[in-house]
Amino acid sequence: MRATRGVVLAGGSGSRLFPLTKTTNKHLLPVGDVPMVYHPIRRLVEAGIDELLVVTGAHHVGAIVSQLGSGAEFGCRFTYKVQDRAGGIAEALGLAEDFADGLPIAVVLGDNVFGCALAPHLEAWAQSGKGSMILVKEVGDPERFGVAHFEAGRLVGIYEKPQSPPSRFAVTGVYFYDAGVYDIIRTLTPSARGELEISEVNSRYLLDDNLHWAEMSGEWSDAGTHESYRRANNMVDRI
Ligand code: G1P
Repeated sequence: MRATRGVVLAGGSGSRLFPLTKTTNKHLLPVGDVPMVYHPIRRLVEAGIDELLVVTGAHHVGAIVSQLGSGAEFGCRFTYKVQDRAGGIAEALGLAEDFADGLPIAVVLGDNVFGCALAPHLEAWAQSGKGSMILVKEVGDPERFGVAHFEAGRLVGIYEKPQSPPSRFAVTGVYFYDAGVYDIIRTLTPSARGELEISEVNSRYLLDDNLHWAEMSGEWSDAGTHESYRRANNMVDRI
């Protein structure tokens, strides 16, 4: 496996979970018996990644640091960075450049809860020789996500929240990138929702035939809306 650092994206306003997020960062809300963000962090650490950057908004950085601490409790070391405004996942990821120091990164969204071990996927990514990797998962409501478009089993496109989804495969919030990702992020412009979109980053890699993909095994849910937050809580005892 390639030496890899981890990036946990835990910013955003959490507006879709209002009023639960009026005074709290979404990622600190309970999912099962721990804060939501513990779940993806544990998946990274379990995969042998022990240098983790946590990116969060200025509003709740104190609470995030108080909750997560140095990382000793998780068996890792945390570095923290602040994203000044909710400018999107890709913008937050751009803040990881110095931390990554040229090494590949495994990125998880702090509101993604899943039962899938990451080590085999990191291994497959290394074998593929590609600069990036995404994990996809079949869902009932693909229009809420980045969606993968397949033709004859080949991935041919990735679209962010399409009105008519080309498949039921959501792009999950688990991404692996080489150090080329920051140059791509620098060329992005804000989408209609005013954010730098991670689907745009993945589309660029795909266009360059430099994207590996696999299906995620086990259960997966985001927890960014009331419905999915309930689903994540119901699911967590099974993963
Ligand atoms: C984000 C990404 C989307 C991805 C999803 C996974 O969506 O933009 O591509 O499928 O996370 O959780 P958001 O939570 O910002 O709506």
